[in-house]
Amino acid sequence: MAEIGNDILKAQDFLERNHLVAIPTETVYGLAANALNSIAVAKIFEAKERPTFDPLIVHTYNLKKVYDFVTEIHPSLLKLAETFWPGPLTLLLPKKEVIPNLVTSGLERVGVRIPNHPLTLNLLSQLSFPLAAPSANPFGYISPTSAEHVQKQLGEKIPYILDGGNCKVGLESTIVGEENGEIIIYRLGGLSIDDIESVVGKVSIQLNQSSNPKSPGQLKSHYAPKKPVYIGNLTQLQIKFSNFKLGAIIFGEQNFTNQNLIVKNLSSSKNYQEAAVNLFSFLRELDETDVDIIIAELLPETGLGLAINDRLRRAAVI
Ligand code: TXA
Ligand code: MG
Repeated sequence: MAEIGNDILKAQDFLERNHLVAIPTETVYGLAANALNSIAVAKIFEAKERPTFDPLIVHTYNLKKVYDFVTEIHPSLLKLAETFWPGPLTLLLPKKEVIPNLVTSGLERVGVRIPNHPLTLNLLSQLSFPLAAPSANPFGYISPTSAEHVQKQLGEKIPYILDGGNCKVGLESTIVGEENGEIIIYRLGGLSIDDIESVVGKVSIQLNQSSNPKSPGQLKSHYAPKKPVYIGNLTQLQIKFSNFKLGAIIFGEQNFTNQNLIVKNLSSSKNYQEAAVNLFSFLRELDETDVDIIIAELLPETGLGLAINDRLRRAAVI
């Protein structure tokens, strides 16, 4: 099993020797390696069983450092960086040669993010290289929001987990780029569209769901537990699956009389941030119970509700 602790020097030592270390961020835990070293980066794909056509996000600790590995930043994207970094925002930027092709899966742009977590910012500032880090889960499974989540799934494959507590945002970063002067959101996430549009005006959304996505975080079946997830009207789903033991993910107060139901309330006060923080751990918890099926109702399509619904839809079988 991996050692769990908050020793930055230890994490630094492993990373400098091209080993993998799980790191906390405000969104989800990342599985980190030296982004400038292909051998270290290859270990990420191996540990996650992730196809190499799925590129990795590179993490650093200040905007000045970003210019070490990108050629330019479009003015609107620069405004977003200045407003929301450190934070749950990933920018797709034209890469310099120093970033190995393995990191970007051969794409011209590299995903860059400054995460908002004191331990990880401290670690990044001690290192002489940025960190490539996808979410620290096996490919296709739910992202981890605690050190224990990482331990359960990847503990056998990595030496160290830097424990920074539970993630405060709970959803992966929002991915944004620019094409022909247009600002595009490629993945919904912890930074809402409204927040982004308040800085750069109207953006377009390209959440590709084909089998050959530009970004596999856009793959339709992703972020999924092992138990089948159905989304719809909870009363109807309970009738439809009355012969099964059910787990229900709900939002706001609701009364259930069904004894054969485990209920997880994302937020009884209908707070979207609280719901985002709870979503992945509740999916995991239900996955570990003896329920046959997980049922869920979509949230109102506003603010973080959009990103939460995106993850619920991707977790669902239909
Ligand atoms: O919040 C986050 O973004 C977390 C934390 C650890 O930073 N990371 C994360 O990484 O969610 P990952 O690899 O699980 O998801 C990143 C998504 C993938 O779907 C990947 O395809 C896309 O970002 N991506 C990364 N680099 C890209 C690039 N150069 N072009 C297009 N998509 C890219
Ligand atoms: Mg991921």
